[in-house]
Amino acid sequence: MSSQSAVDHAPTQDELDLLHYESRIDRPVRIKVPELHRDERLRHVIFGGQFSVDMLEDLGATADKIRALSRMRNGQDFLLHLLHHKRAMLYFTQPSTRTFLSFMAACQILGMTCNEVRDPTTSSETKGETRFDSIRMFSSYFDLIIMRSKLPSLAEACAYLMNDLADSGNRSVPIVNAGSGADEHPTQALLDIYTLQRSFQFTDPKDSPISNRYNNLRQNFPNLMKGLAGKVYGFCGDIGRGRTVRSLASLLANYQDVTLIFIAPNDPTLSLHDDLRRRLVNRGVRMVEVESLEEVVEGMPVIEQIDALYMTRIQKEHNGPSDEAHFAELDLSPCKLTRELVARMKSYAPILHPFPRDQRFGEIPTEIDDDPRAMYFRQARNGMWIRAALLASIFGVDHQISRFFHEETKNV
Ligand code: NCD
Repeated sequence: MSSQSAVDHAPTQDELDLLHYESRIDRPVRIKVPELHRDERLRHVIFGGQFSVDMLEDLGATADKIRALSRMRNGQDFLLHLLHHKRAMLYFTQPSTRTFLSFMAACQILGMTCNEVRDPTTSSETKGETRFDSIRMFSSYFDLIIMRSKLPSLAEACAYLMNDLADSGNRSVPIVNAGSGADEHPTQALLDIYTLQRSFQFTDPKDSPISNRYNNLRQNFPNLMKGLAGKVYGFCGDIGRGRTVRSLASLLANYQDVTLIFIAPNDPTLSLHDDLRRRLVNRGVRMVEVESLEEVVEGMPVIEQIDALYMTRIQKEHNGPSDEAHFAELDLSPCKLTRELVARMKSYAPILHPFPRDQRFGEIPTEIDDDPRAMYFRQARNGMWIRAALLASIFGVDHQISRFFHEETKNV
């Protein structure tokens, strides 16, 4: 099995059940991706690596339309009827606030009914039922399963279970991975990309806090181009265990000429792990690894050259028995943002964070929140729109949304 799912204790029933899917899980992503699509459409959402630039642009455009329609009474009514006949199960056995609520809100925008299981002790799993039986049961009652688990490959295995059921003529529903252990969090990466798309628009004064300075920006940064290609992205904090970093880095690797700078303490747990490094190198991504936001790379401190900064917290829930004491000996301050550092950033460079931020650790002090570059609250709201766009795409109603939007706005 992949190193992410390696265990250093007696295997649990879940881990034993996953062994059944081991040979399929261990294949390269490029081989697995076609199995997650049906008729050139998304079926299951499991990895960041499933999305091409075209898909990301389409999803962002659909999210923009849903957002605009939601501001209009008849637009809201139209959206509410689109998936009125569909039901979603939110199966979240790991803590979540934003992902859970924004998926629920996304379902509600499109008229879907939601139900939830968050505490497995209230389900038949306490009577010895396996996760896979639970999932198959959910698929009997619901049309979509959105799941978060601490087990790295569980969502992927559930997608294969659903494919096997479909192949044998049984009922089968799409699986959406809403966070799998320290492994992947593809829908967070979608909202991160959507936030970057909007931040690098530089055109619409309504939507971007910096766009009314567009002319000014042009003078100061004559080579600045719209869009995600050709930009320098900084990822800072717990790079090794941040699943959002893993998913977003693989999506950014789709764009031409990007540079990814990973800023993490010099520690094998917290710094970039080998598997992601190898994947990015294989895809020809320009990559730099440093230990501080102020470290100089090619003659310029990192903080001054990045076009966007992605902060993360230290993922304490993944700590092993000796990690706490060991991390206490490290100097983690070079991976924290301060007002002084923000003052040195480019005037348009958005600051993102998947949230929650860790108040005690203080990777982003609240005094930065009113800086126009602090994008993290907008980013969380973007999650609702892009997840609605994702659901529309999975159920094939995105074209209907486009048609309705163009009808409604053609005379405006
Ligand atoms: C992230 C997660 O769960 O991985 N949170 C989220 O979904 N917005 C990031 C984190 O917990 O640090």
